[in-house]
This record gives sequence, C-alpha cells and structure tokens, in this order.
Amino acid sequence: MSDETMTAPASDACHSAPSAPRAARNRVSETLREWPVSHGLLLGAFSLCTALALSVVDDVTRGSIAQRSAEDLRASLAQVVPEEIHNEALTAHLLDLHDPEAGPVTVYRAVKDGAVTGVAYEMTGYGYGGRIQVLMGIDTEGELLGVRVLSHSETPGLGDKIEVAKSDWILGFTGLSLTDPAPADWNVQRDGGVFDQFSGATITPRGVVGAIREGLELFERNRAEMLAPLDDPSSEETG
Ligand SMILES: Cc1cc2nc3c(=O)[nH]c(=O)nc-3n(C[C@H](O)[C@H](O)[C@H](O)COP(=O)(O)O)c2cc1C
Repeated sequence: MSDETMTAPASDACHSAPSAPRAARNRVSETLREWPVSHGLLLGAFSLCTALALSVVDDVTRGSIAQRSAEDLRASLAQVVPEEIHNEALTAHLLDLHDPEAGPVTVYRAVKDGAVTGVAYEMTGYGYGGRIQVLMGIDTEGELLGVRVLSHSETPGLGDKIEVAKSDWILGFTGLSLTDPAPADWNVQRDGGVFDQFSGATITPRGVVGAIREGLELFERNRAEMLAPLDDPSSEETG
C-alpha cells in the first residue's frame, strides 16, 4: 500500500461517509435541536386535551348544579312562606331591591290572585365560624312567616343548633315582628334580650338574632316598594 493511499487528507474523510461515533453524535445533536419543538407540541396537545376535558365536565355539571340550586332554593322558600298565601311560584316575581344599608337584595314575592301577600329574602349574620345565611319570610304586616338557616360554618354540637334539623330554636321566630318583642329585646338573653343562647355558645345565636332583626328593619325601610302592586311601574320585576 502506498503512503498516498494510507494517509488520505482529513477533509476528504469528512466529506465521505461519517464514522460511527460521528454519526451518533450527529443524531444526538439533531434530536436535541428537535426536542424543544417536540416538547412544545406535546405540552400544547396536553394542555388542549385538558382544557377540552375541563370544558366538557364544566358543561355537563353546570346544568345539574344550577338545577340543584334552584330546587334547594324552592324547597327553602317553601319552608318560610306557607303555600296558603300564594298561588304562583315564589320565584316568579323577583324584585331587585337596593337598600342603602344592606345593599342589593333579591326579594321573592309571594303573590295570590295577583296581589303581593308576602316577601322572602336572605340576610347575612356573623357567627363563630363566619357568615351565616338566613332566609326569612315576612307577611304584609311585617310578621315573620318563617326563618331558616341556609348555610353556616358553626361548630357541630355547639353552634349548629340553629339548623332546624338539630333543634327547634329557629322555629321560635315565627309570628314575631319588630315590635313583638320590642326592638330592645331583639337580642340573646346574655345581651339583655329575650332569645335563648345555647349553652357555651352565645356567638352563633347572637349572629342569627342580629341578622333577623336587621331583616325586619330592612322590611320597614322598603315596605312600600316590596308590597307595591305588580302592575306598578315602580315595582322593578326581574323574574
Ligand atoms: C373549638 C371551639 C369551637 C367553638 N364553636 C362555637 C360556635 O360554633 N358557636 C359559638 O357560639 N361558640 C363557639 N365556641 C365558644 C365561643 O368561643 C364562646 O366562648 C362562646 O360563644 C361564648 O358563649 P358563652 O358566653 O355562653 O360561654 C367555640 C369554642 C371553641 C373553643
């Protein structure tokens, strides 16, 4: 073999078929160059699938959650407004009230033979565990038709006696009004009022009594608007 054949210039070797290690290195660097794109595409596809799945689940559950909430609301309203005083759905004649103190309040009007016979709305009280949502029904004379606690975060066994399922304490408000008992007596006994507190738990009933009292005061401030005839243009019906 001549020297010429044995020592081919390096540049020639480069331009002919690459050696095995060089080919492997080329493949790796090629792959590395492609990885960011592949990662991006993979991540994009994954995000798209997740978004699609979430949107489908949201669509499927939103309808049933809304339906369930509407049923819960109807059931709660039926507990604070007796059916004898209305012959239309309690959700058929809503009023968007703007009270200077309580802010926006949705009022459910009980209607019998075209006349408003009572109202129901939610108030918020504050207990040991935070907000307590109270639904109260009131007749045209300002007398409580019924009160129920819709939601709360009070301690089981201590503050949860405000639930009708746990005790009949909340039923004691039916028939009362802002003048019966007198305004000053609208407090728990610990604060000089007439309402029972629970043993070792005064904060919760104090919050509920306060919410109901404020709800009765709201009725007095807005009585004319709430009870206005339905064909009165001042009665802004939204239902
Ligand atoms: C863990 C824990 C949970 C409590 N939960 C409640 C509650 O849900 N409602 C309530 O009124 N008081 C609750 N209390 C008690 C209040 O801190 C407070 O002592 C009581 O309401 C005062 O009532 P009293 O003056 O009748 O003792 C709780 C106390 C503790 C330590």
